[in-house]
Amino acid sequence: MNEAIPQGLVTAAQTAREQAYAPYSNYTVGAAVLTAEGEVIAGCNVENASYPATICAERVALTAAIAQGKRQLKAIAVVTVDGGTPCGICRQVMAELGPEMDVYISDDVGNFRRTTVRALLPDAFGG
Ligand code: THU
Repeated sequence: MNEAIPQGLVTAAQTAREQAYAPYSNYTVGAAVLTAEGEVIAGCNVENASYPATICAERVALTAAIAQGKRQLKAIAVVTVDGGTPCGICRQVMAELGPEMDVYISDDVGNFRRTTVRALLPDAFGG
């Protein structure tokens, strides 16, 4: 049985995943950030023929939140086909912008787990 989660956040990540631009990997990812004000800001992965130019869904959502003036971030949900976990670069960006965030990692049939940024990136480098 799934533990209690902010279902709206996961749903927003699922919806954002439908917009993913992933013609190279075909691995679509959706993410959604929950702000302290209760707003939800979503993102998807955006790939590039020059592979390193690809942007992960988590960083699209996190940077969109900052661009919208939201700096107090409570949680992030990430949805993939298989419940894949955030990459190392995204963990570092989470540690910068939302070190207190809960992280909900979900697959496409609703299985998920809850973790935290601190658990995903212990002893993080900081400014
Ligand atoms: N990807 C994400 O969007 N988030 C992650 O945390 C891991 C990887 C994307 C990048 C690329 O478009 C695809 O998944 C395959 O690596």
